[in-house]
Amino acid sequence: MAGIDQVEMAAGFLRKGGLIAFPTETVYGLGADARNEAAVAQVFAVKGRPAHNPLIVHVSSVAMARECAAEWGADCEALAEAFWPGPLTLVVKRNESIPSIVCAGGDTVAIRMPDHPTALALIERFGGPIVGPSANRSGQVSPTTAAHVFEQFGGEVIVLAADACERGIESTVVDMTCEKAAVLRRGVIGAEQIAQVVGRAVDDLGDQIAAGQAASPGLQERHYAPSTPARLVDDVTELGGEWVLLAYSRLDAGVRGIAMPTEPDAYARRLYAALREADAMGAKEILIERPPQEGATEGASAIWRAIHDRLARATR
Ligand code: TXA
Ligand code: MG
Repeated sequence: MAGIDQVEMAAGFLRKGGLIAFPTETVYGLGADARNEAAVAQVFAVKGRPAHNPLIVHVSSVAMARECAAEWGADCEALAEAFWPGPLTLVVKRNESIPSIVCAGGDTVAIRMPDHPTALALIERFGGPIVGPSANRSGQVSPTTAAHVFEQFGGEVIVLAADACERGIESTVVDMTCEKAAVLRRGVIGAEQIAQVVGRAVDDLGDQIAAGQAASPGLQERHYAPSTPARLVDDVTELGGEWVLLAYSRLDAGVRGIAMPTEPDAYARRLYAALREADAMGAKEILIERPPQEGATEGASAIWRAIHDRLARATR
């Protein structure tokens, strides 16, 4: 965890309307005071993020989450109890304390409590909610180390550095404002696990949103993408050309590429760094050997589904 002096300085910088990149358990976020419109506008500008794509607000307590929401039902309370701090983002009706720009002009706000001591210390010290989109330029691969953030933004943004992110892919986003809760973005917490807590079925709109058939701001775009074109493949033995391979589990001798872990949590943790490394190898194409669709447990399957969501976007 970052030292207490660094956290204090970073919090002071946020109070002045500055931007601070901070670690979470999923990916690094680009933080700013969620209630300071000018600071939030700066986040959109630095990321090159379209104004129609809303930001996630990060809190350090459930009480702080309630203050950002106009409605906070029993389901939200139960989900926060079950999964916070953790990689679950709840979309609820927005309270007026959160400026409209955070929510891209909409009447809902996405909230999560990250499971990372540095992130929690920063929000606590700052004393209020902070926005935290992934700390990458819009459309590019999310950062899972402080060095990734630095590579992307150089001296433009101060980075509160910690270890590599434990989870490696972004939080599950679940819309709690419709009659039936609905997963808008897949993450390591699956619809099934959410359904067990709220005691009723939960829609998983992951495929429909990725295909552009269901509406969600900002979730249709090509995303998490390296600059080298990437493609999912089942077999590389017949393929000629100048490519590097993200191999699933085994990299044959003489093949240029990276062997990915076999377990879904380890695969997710490694994925974005591996995409960056493959990108830096300077090949014409990145081939990604398709990992399994299912795991040994429902939890493992949920992580594979989230990984496939990111792979689909990276190869679009
Ligand atoms: O794990 C994460 O969620 C990371 C870390 C830093 O917390 N943050 C993150 O933020 O991934 P970002 O901005 O890269 O992705 C936020 C996603 C976007 O797809 C956005 O469209 C969606 O959440 N989102 C934000 N507010 C929303 C809202 N009010 N309604 C529906 N979707 C929303
Ligand atoms: Mg992002």
